[in-house]
Amino acid sequence: MDKLVIEGGVSLRGDVRVGTAKNSVLPILAATLLTREPCRIVDAPRLRDVGTMLRILPALGVECERDADGSIATRVVDERACEAPYELVKTMRASVCVLGPLVGRRRRARVSFPGGCVFGPRPIDLHLKGLRALGVELDIEAGYIVARAENLRGASMYLGGAFGPTVTGTANVLMAAVLADGVTHIHMAACEPEIQDLARFLVAMGADVRGIGTPVLEIHGVAELHGATYRPVPDRIEAGTFLVAAAITGGNVTVRDCRPEDLLAVIERLEAVGCGIETGADWVRCARRGRLRAADITTLPYPGFPTDLQAQFMALLTLADGVSVVTEKIYPERFMHVAELARMRARIRREQHLAIVEGTEYLSGAPVLASDLRASAALVLAGLVAEGETQVRRVYHIDRGYERIEEKLAHLGARIRREEDEEGA
Ligand code: EPZ
Repeated sequence: MDKLVIEGGVSLRGDVRVGTAKNSVLPILAATLLTREPCRIVDAPRLRDVGTMLRILPALGVECERDADGSIATRVVDERACEAPYELVKTMRASVCVLGPLVGRRRRARVSFPGGCVFGPRPIDLHLKGLRALGVELDIEAGYIVARAENLRGASMYLGGAFGPTVTGTANVLMAAVLADGVTHIHMAACEPEIQDLARFLVAMGADVRGIGTPVLEIHGVAELHGATYRPVPDRIEAGTFLVAAAITGGNVTVRDCRPEDLLAVIERLEAVGCGIETGADWVRCARRGRLRAADITTLPYPGFPTDLQAQFMALLTLADGVSVVTEKIYPERFMHVAELARMRARIRREQHLAIVEGTEYLSGAPVLASDLRASAALVLAGLVAEGETQVRRVYHIDRGYERIEEKLAHLGARIRREEDEEGA
């Protein structure tokens, strides 16, 4: 197991390029189950989670090949297999995205129930509700979701839950509905850029999806889909993480190959804490000279502030003058980073789904333990500015969603290296 060792105190400067979005690539790869024709996903990032999907798809009869240029070629060679096994699904919740396309195309699926995760319960009741509305019979047997559908027929459904829309739930129902008879309306559909991206990939495959990017998706079922070549959107969470890296270190970083329009809520909050932001068609520059000011953040479904940047932004707020309130409205328990940031001298008090962050003069480097992907990124950011050395352990979490993060940060001047962690977990 590896750890990242960071010597804090360098203001980051320069340009960094972000890859394509993990949370687009995963459902898009799952969508390749919907056709027997070859598909090509261009510039797919080399991430642990993508690797997991590339192990699940062959178990479902899909040949997958990674080309030297980074694209992934897929082709379905056997449509009999329908089981996504526990051993693979348990390592990545997004594996549940194969449920919709399996039932859409093969009319049956056996997918391990994904269960909870370190940041609390992660139900899939809305996925199941939407699939049932399309005529899918569903049951839970031995820890598996067992799905069968004689006929799939379009339906109108409301997919909102207590915390708003569901991202992968919308993806699953959308992928089943494209091959259903008739018209489907998904009300309260997720509008995240990654869902828009999946919908565009399906359109490139011959699907008829209208209302993309709005809370009402209208899907006219078609009989067959064909292969497609597609480049997913840039990763807005990776981009946001580098912008926060610039802000926390008092640096000046230009994030290239990104989409500023997907980052509006983040840009607005970076300005609120005192950063200067410039944007171009496909880049965002973040610079900070003065002190950081406290600011509140509230996570919300897109286009609100993303929960996937809450931890990183909290690391930033630990050094702001004044008191900031972080309100987590998507995952009320997504605060594992709080205790580890406290080990670095941050002053944070948790009250249910709120964290109250009182700015401190400086952070102090420490050995810390990463508990999930975005929490790990927050600890790395804190380490970049902390006095002395920070060791972020269990970095396999970070490798799930950031490609070569230490190389990209080192290129911006950070003193960071990856080492084997002899103490293991
Ligand atoms: C997606 O997870 C992302 N994962 C997550 O990214 C992200 O944090 C999350 O959306 C929110 O933006 C992928 O895209 C692969 P949800 P997902 O269903 O789809 C509740 C990362 O770090 N809910 O939109 O699983 C749920 O509990 C990650 O890259 C139900 O109640 O999230 C939550 O409160 C982690 N019933 C809210 O909805 C359901 O059936 C939103 O969850 C489904 C969800």
